[in-house]
Amino acid sequence: MAREVDNHLASAAIYPIDVNYTIALKSIDGIHDDYRNKSFKLMQWSPKQNSSDFPMDYVSPTDLLIVKDSYELWSLDLESHLQYMVDVVVNKGFLMAIFRKITFTPNNPKVDQIIEIKSDCKQWFDKLKQKLEDNMSEDTIADNVWLIANDGDSNGVVGLVNCLRLEPGGDRIRCIFDCNHLFNQIDFNSKPFSQILSNDLAINVLRNGQLGTYRHLTLPKNYDKTLSNEYYLNIGQNRDISSLQWFDKRNMSDKIEGYNLDNKPVKYVKCNIYSSGINFRDVMFATGRITSGPLSLIIDCLIGFEFAGRLKETGERVCGFDMSRCFASSINAMNTMVSKIPNNWSMDDAVTILSTYSTVWYGLIERAILRQNEKVLIHSAAGGVGQAAVNICKYYNCDIFVTVGTEDKKKFLMNEYNIPENRIFSSRDIQFKYKIKSLTDGKGVDIVLNSLTGDKLEASYECVADCGRFVEIGKYDLQMNKQLGMFAFLRDISFIGVSVDQKLFLSEGYIQKWWQWMHENSNNGMIKPINRTVYKAEDVEKAFRYMTTGKHIGKIVIRIRDEEPKDTKVFNPSAVLSSTVKTYFDSNKSYIITGGLGGFGLELAHWMIALGARNLVLTSRYGVKSDYQKFVFKRIESLSDRFKTFGTNITVWTKSTESLENTKLLLKEANNLAPIAGIFHLSVVINDCLYSNHNIDEYIETIDSKTKTFVNLDQITRELAIDLDYFVVFSSVSCGKGNAGQSNYGFANSVCERICESRRRDGLHGLAIQWGPIGDVGVLADTDIVSPLAGIVKQRINSCLDILDKLLQTKHSIVSCIVRAKRQTQSGSRESRIVAQIWQALGIDPKTTPDHLTLGEIGMESMFAVELQQGLERDYDIKVSLNDIKNVTIRMVKEFEAGKTSELKLFTEELRDCRSKLSKIKFLIPTESYTRLNGAKTGRPIYFLPPLEGIFSSLEALAAMIDRPVIGLNWTKHLEKMSLKELSVYYTNLLKTLHPKGDYDIFGHFYGALIAINMLKKAPIGKAVIIDMLSEIKMDEEVMTDEYIMELIIAFIAKDLPLVVRDKLKRDCNLKPDVKSKLVKISDELKEFVGKSLVSRDLEEILLNSHQRVKLFSNYRINLKNKFSKLKVNIGKKYLEMSGKLLIIKPSKTSNVDEINLDEIEKIKNAYFLPEKGLEGKLNFQTVDSTHGEREFSQTFDKIAESINAFLAK
Ligand SMILES: NC(=O)c1ccc[n+]([C@@H]2O[C@H](COP(=O)([O-])OP(=O)(O)OC[C@H]3O[C@@H](n4cnc5c(N)ncnc54)[C@H](OP(=O)(O)O)[C@@H]3O)[C@@H](O)[C@H]2O)c1
Repeated sequence: MAREVDNHLASAAIYPIDVNYTIALKSIDGIHDDYRNKSFKLMQWSPKQNSSDFPMDYVSPTDLLIVKDSYELWSLDLESHLQYMVDVVVNKGFLMAIFRKITFTPNNPKVDQIIEIKSDCKQWFDKLKQKLEDNMSEDTIADNVWLIANDGDSNGVVGLVNCLRLEPGGDRIRCIFDCNHLFNQIDFNSKPFSQILSNDLAINVLRNGQLGTYRHLTLPKNYDKTLSNEYYLNIGQNRDISSLQWFDKRNMSDKIEGYNLDNKPVKYVKCNIYSSGINFRDVMFATGRITSGPLSLIIDCLIGFEFAGRLKETGERVCGFDMSRCFASSINAMNTMVSKIPNNWSMDDAVTILSTYSTVWYGLIERAILRQNEKVLIHSAAGGVGQAAVNICKYYNCDIFVTVGTEDKKKFLMNEYNIPENRIFSSRDIQFKYKIKSLTDGKGVDIVLNSLTGDKLEASYECVADCGRFVEIGKYDLQMNKQLGMFAFLRDISFIGVSVDQKLFLSEGYIQKWWQWMHENSNNGMIKPINRTVYKAEDVEKAFRYMTTGKHIGKIVIRIRDEEPKDTKVFNPSAVLSSTVKTYFDSNKSYIITGGLGGFGLELAHWMIALGARNLVLTSRYGVKSDYQKFVFKRIESLSDRFKTFGTNITVWTKSTESLENTKLLLKEANNLAPIAGIFHLSVVINDCLYSNHNIDEYIETIDSKTKTFVNLDQITRELAIDLDYFVVFSSVSCGKGNAGQSNYGFANSVCERICESRRRDGLHGLAIQWGPIGDVGVLADTDIVSPLAGIVKQRINSCLDILDKLLQTKHSIVSCIVRAKRQTQSGSRESRIVAQIWQALGIDPKTTPDHLTLGEIGMESMFAVELQQGLERDYDIKVSLNDIKNVTIRMVKEFEAGKTSELKLFTEELRDCRSKLSKIKFLIPTESYTRLNGAKTGRPIYFLPPLEGIFSSLEALAAMIDRPVIGLNWTKHLEKMSLKELSVYYTNLLKTLHPKGDYDIFGHFYGALIAINMLKKAPIGKAVIIDMLSEIKMDEEVMTDEYIMELIIAFIAKDLPLVVRDKLKRDCNLKPDVKSKLVKISDELKEFVGKSLVSRDLEEILLNSHQRVKLFSNYRINLKNKFSKLKVNIGKKYLEMSGKLLIIKPSKTSNVDEINLDEIEKIKNAYFLPEKGLEGKLNFQTVDSTHGEREFSQTFDKIAESINAFLAK
């Protein structure tokens, strides 16, 4: 706790950061080791009635003393020993108080040091200015200046002093605010003033005979919670599953009639909800994976689409749809969207049927015109929609093909629906495409009901037979505007996008058609209720999480209340749940926003409309002028025009409201629209300036702009007894905590705050909100925040409105809302929360799961990935794509859990670099015999033999460093079938035609090195350079397994992939049954990893060719090895002739040539069939330092190029 106080104070930047802390405890025996260090002094002390026991000498004047609060402390006479309570932290049920030790008694002030602060600031403005100037002059040892306010309860002295104290000379200001004007005279020799003097506190408030001050207390964590059994479910500000919460809906007024989104008049019926079904769409919204687009500007809840319950009036069992808010205890639903539940269905049954069967009915029957005996592919067939589709297709005697994500689901479909095993495929890869093609004689199926995304969507598309129909029910790819090739349309394929919600709500009469179909088929075997997992309302988060794991079979249902066995009008109650308080505005009332055309005002108006307000009066001196104001009005107007349900009356009031008469007129104007229910006072004119430089007119202008109208509004609404739900002023943290240069603003806000207090005391609504700086709009939007508020950062307007929603429901009169600058210290709490959820969702124990596994491998569903992705981006500014999240390893997550993000950051950087490298490679098989690889035009050319992958991308950087023309000898398609010997002959002949005199050199690497040596023996070549790797690679028959070859290919072609991705790729390849599918996996992975920018036309072919080449070469080598003993003499002779012409470069972790041991030289001789003897002094052999080892020699290109250039220049 002491640490938290420290962080708290440091981040607020209010107090010096290097304070010394003394922790006073009854017993220091059990204290944690963390606190037994230099930064905390420990003191044993038990509060007793006799407080003089407190060992004061133990504490030095710069210390802050932390005492854990206890009831014993409350009875102490604190005044005599401990004073100046500077902050309070309420945490874990404890109050922590910090006390300052006083070491001196201030002087009794002289009369001219006392200034009376009246509400009319003209009376003190100059005098105070003079005093502050005196205080600032260096040669005066200034005494404290005492500001006395006793002209009534609504004096702004508190805000004034808070600001002045931060200005030059302000540290000597003290004030006494005698709210009830109890004392006619101030006598510092008698109580309470003597006490005030010795306390030496800046702000001393006397109210109702009590002495106190104003302090900020942290609201309890659950300040926004209430117990309620009238609620609905929604996502919180974070837009992730953990933010799901029940919201109290008791403030929401009942709708009786209105308009639907098609502007048709509608009537509403009130239903008590018993069960609601979760749809994939809900989870997508809850995880922020899809958005509602512009709708989210005006509709605050987007989840909950179907329900079953009873009509409140008659008790009849009904089921129905709404666009949202169906996870709720009750709903006002459009009467057309509700229908009786067939007698043979329970309420839970009904919610398993609504969205599932309506989707399939609309997609397959209405749109795709499903016919008897057709072939249908149903994706994710164990899900709710999938099972509905299986039932309907069975009814139509269709030939059903399905995909599922897990073995359990496969078994389920086999057992429950008798689907043969050979008709069930995995939905996790695209193998189903090949299998369906083969089962349908290459024709494909008549209809695909698709909900898969990415490459699986494309594969599904390919499964559609000529003249078939592709019915898309997934929303993700539609929202992402995924492109599909038009080519398939040549086969007369129909693409059918299904948004049943749109159809049911917007197409007139369609909903009746559905209800009719549903009732007709409720008992004939076509519609069968779907199996479901039922969760209670309080477990709704678990239910959503379960859906994200993708493990569920059938529907997930939220049970709000249990169904009564018989028809009844006495309903089972919904559970009382902790719900978040929620503000709604009444569409039949009016609301006034003063300064409503300002930055915050316009946002507030818009927000109020979204929460139900339909009659607004906005005040402004000049009316709508700026382009932005016009834009916002236009937006509201067009919304009203487009949707009658959002029809809003807005009046802009431009008369001054500083006089009582005009304020009355304003209220009348609002009342003409509708009875007034709320006033939000925002108008202000800011004139910031240090007090010593201020002029009286500007000083007063700010005060009047804020106070006069508010005072009038308070007075008249009281006189007219207007019943207001909200009477709110937007105050500022400048008033609450002070801000230099804003003493007039502080004073004005303080006046308004006092009015709110007095209203609350009188049982009326009154709320002052001290906002911190706001980022997006308003007076501070484009400014840097001034230093005294340095511990506070700007708050986003959306966040302000979200908090306002809750603050409007508090019972306090003054509240403050600020965003503190991010703490410097690491706190594991949020990270551990996210990670704990990950472990839970994955169902793994992190302690026993191997660190190297990736989240993708252990089955992290993409929706959960979204949560982690958002957490990383929101809190750490680490941007990771969804695909990359799957490559995050358990180890990285554990590090993250411990608050360390360096590894994750490094990983994301690596991913970025590697992606950029790979996207520069063109995986295209060349058609020309040779290609220029660098720009050098003069000098003897050097020809590069092709590397294993057959393309030169990996050697281009090396070529660029060579100081003569470099030409790549291409591996064109017709060379594929040649043996190594034939290849040597082919290249030799090619070069003979190009350079009959042999005036060129050659370079080879890996097997190119073998070809180079072969050519060197036969062609009139100048010199040859090879980079040795072969000596490191085992080529014996027994090691040349497919697995080993695959590893080689990954090392060459996918070498740029980060290590964890490469390792995972190896593991993935091992799972594939044959070489071809292993290579396809590598190709798919590279394509997915790099995305569209990868030039990959021939990638699969290049991988296949590389594999064949390795095979070819290893056979050659094994054969040669067998013959080696015979050949040795022959080769040896030839080699001796050409020995001066060859340079062997070996990238090695050992940089010193002398350290090359004989073993390695032997290995090289073996690898290239060099003679064992006679080479002494003739072998040009060079090592280059490669910290990354032989295979990643590209890191050492500069050194290699240097060696080549030097050797060729000899
Ligand atoms: N923005 C912030 O960072 C922040 C921080 C803390 C508190 N607040 C409080 O939030 C409220 C709104 O702030 P804001 O940032 O939206 O300020 P703003 O953009 O300056 O809006 C205030 C509006 O008040 C209007 N106004 C001034 N005198 C008026 C009068 N006599 N009658 C009617 N309207 C008058 C002005 O409009 P016309 O010129 O059209 O008259 C001005 O647009 C203020 O009360 C402010 O104290 C804001």
